[in-house]
Amino acid sequence: MILSEKHLAFREKLKEFSDNVVAPRAKDLDLNSEFPHDLVKKMGEMDLYGLFVPKKYGGAGLDTLSYAIAVEEVSRACGSTGIFFAAHTSLAVAPIYQAGNESQKQKWLIPLAKGEKIGSFGLTEPNAGSDASATETTAKLVGDEYIINGTKCFITSGHVADVIVLTATKDPSLGYQGISAFVVEKGTPGFILGKEEDKMGLRGSITSELIFEDCKIPRENLLGEEGDGFKIFMQTLDGGRISIGALALGIAQGALEYAVKFVKSHSISNKLLSRQQSIQSTIAEIGTEIEAARLLIYQAAELKDAGRPLTKEAAMGKYYASLIGMKATNTAIELHGMLGLTKEYPVERFIRDEKLMEIGEGTSEIQKIVIARQILGK
Ligand code: CAA
Repeated sequence: MILSEKHLAFREKLKEFSDNVVAPRAKDLDLNSEFPHDLVKKMGEMDLYGLFVPKKYGGAGLDTLSYAIAVEEVSRACGSTGIFFAAHTSLAVAPIYQAGNESQKQKWLIPLAKGEKIGSFGLTEPNAGSDASATETTAKLVGDEYIINGTKCFITSGHVADVIVLTATKDPSLGYQGISAFVVEKGTPGFILGKEEDKMGLRGSITSELIFEDCKIPRENLLGEEGDGFKIFMQTLDGGRISIGALALGIAQGALEYAVKFVKSHSISNKLLSRQQSIQSTIAEIGTEIEAARLLIYQAAELKDAGRPLTKEAAMGKYYASLIGMKATNTAIELHGMLGLTKEYPVERFIRDEKLMEIGEGTSEIQKIVIARQILGK
């Protein structure tokens, strides 16, 4: 596929932002485990959170392909900023846009798309990770309120979120059919911030435990119909996997660029590393794999924009981009030699950040289950 002039121009704009504004912050965000409030605000001013949302709902009225390009470009410089961007947009903006009614869109979609509010996605629980249908958090309807009880874990941006889109079941024995999707706002009594994780990578992003103890929310906070929650979340994850794929791709591209810079400026026996045939072969391999991942991800984005099924392609893009992303970041370190392990060069950050892409929003094993079911039938 060939990007249109419009998409190429958009990429240039994002590349400039990434190189000049995001990249200079990346090292400190990682070293200090600092959440990038400044970049979050700036990305809102650039209308990045509503790229695929119509203008009437506070978006930019562009498309998913533009969004994938934007996540890739931001992540090329900083994985932590990239994961915030991807989780907020794919996992909070998107489900409200897709499943919310008009008043829910007015209330939550517009401020989320404009970046006035921060959103999170609460699916994972201590006993419901890969098996998302094992949700134990309950929602009981009493009068005109749902009462939520349970714990969500590993929630991106949980501690800073204004709005959480979460799953809860009316009865865990009903399996996926008992699960509904709800919106819970920060400050609701009974919504408690639990521990914050101290992670190996993406250290500038926040990963939180969220606890709900008799947390009462209005009936109007139900997204879609009762029992729709699992499917709403699976559809949300289809879109989310495009952005995690784009994030993995961006980190891989960033690592390749640093590796190229290094091999073009360092020599062995008076011969530039870039002139050594074995190093050229390594660079060619990584470059080809990155391009293949890009094509898979852009294809999934185009399918989404065309309103066509994308479950298989999004899973393939995420699976493949994270797989080759680990190889690319590892190779980038090896090309730097011992220097690659030091904080003097950014490639050690890239590999730590990339690892989440094989785990978050469905592990590689889950992606393979999703892909195999699409190929073989269930
Ligand atoms: N779109 C729409 N509907 C879907 C769907 C999709 N992509 N996938 C499944 N469904 C539907 C099925 O058609 C089925 O409905 P019917 O019975 O009406 O046909 C229903 O949902 C149940 O589907 P399955 O039987 O396939 O469900 P399953 O229990 O076998 O699970 C799974 C499937 C793919 C393994 C799923 O559990 C899964 O994706 N697990 C991984 C979860 C995950 O990615 N978690 C990470 C979340 S990220 C997070 O929480 C933190 C953060 O901030 C990033």
